[in-house]
Amino acid sequence: MLAIDARDVVKTFRSGWFRPRETRALQGVSLAVPRGAIVGLLGPNGAGKTTLLSILATLLTPDSGRVTVLGHDVTREAGALRRRLNMASGRPSFLWSLRVGEIIAFYGRLYGLSGSTLRRRVDALIELCELGPYRRAPYSELSTGLKQRVALAKSLVNDPELLFLDEPTLGLDPDVAGRMREHIARLRREQGITIVLTTHYMREAEELCDEIEFIKGGRILARGTSGELKRQIGLGEVVALKLDPPRVAWLGEAPGVLRCAEADGWVECTVDDAEKRLPELLRALHAEGVIVRNVRVSEPELEEVFVELAK
Ligand SMILES: Nc1ncnc2c1ncn2[C@@H]1O[C@H](COP(=O)(O)OP(=O)(O)O)[C@@H](O)[C@H]1O
Ligand SMILES: [Mg+2]
Repeated sequence: MLAIDARDVVKTFRSGWFRPRETRALQGVSLAVPRGAIVGLLGPNGAGKTTLLSILATLLTPDSGRVTVLGHDVTREAGALRRRLNMASGRPSFLWSLRVGEIIAFYGRLYGLSGSTLRRRVDALIELCELGPYRRAPYSELSTGLKQRVALAKSLVNDPELLFLDEPTLGLDPDVAGRMREHIARLRREQGITIVLTTHYMREAEELCDEIEFIKGGRILARGTSGELKRQIGLGEVVALKLDPPRVAWLGEAPGVLRCAEADGWVECTVDDAEKRLPELLRALHAEGVIVRNVRVSEPELEEVFVELAK
């Protein structure tokens, strides 16, 4: 069952009156997100990530294309849909003088919660997002990481089935970002929420997402798990070997070996598929009487894939 089924979504922004300008933010994007998945939209600035998220979350209407979210058409049935989804931005802005508890309660009231139901919901979200010690702190005094946690708590106030997170760890220190990612992973694990997030951090996409959509210039250029993306780009994996004798002439010509290089006494063979080629190489080396002293296998970083795709 799909949480999101978007076909050929197009969105062009027109701005300026004297000298009109057109920005083709989305140029025919299709996306299918299964229920319970975490899907990442990864891409450089201006790729169209926020625009796509906003359309899926009913905040913008597409120029053309068909978008069904939780079984509803985003344009015609936005009202019914809005109760079942929510969105948080990594650049949140709330009334600076309100306290954390008040902000969450304010949004709860917008969804019709009141009295003890509202109080219980606010308590639960403060607990879930580990905001207990800051409940009475004014928003303006919070660190960036805490502000983003308030935004996350706020986005859960209507108990959404589908959550959109726009750059949820923007500008966070690595350890704070890591904790935010744990919160996000837990929302899916414990509550089964479907999550679509945008990021330009490869590590984040790799750690959190079941599938990554690489988006650039309003188009999805590649999609898959981080492993699939790496294979699609054909960067290969590196099998590094410490050998005795240190050089073996035929290694570069062995099946599946794309190239061979030497570095610090290691022979680094880039192979198409390490799981398949490593045993073959070890058998062949053994047969030739070459001693293998050490072996190291490394995948390319998703970062390298990103650089390759963004070219
Ligand atoms: N409201 C708007 N009016 C005009 N242009 C916009 C508007 N929102 C976004 N854009 C343009 O659309 C493109 C995609 O923007 P956006 O979706 O925000 O990208 P991303 O989130 O991937 O950085 C950019 O070129 C941006 O300048
Ligand atoms: Mg954006």
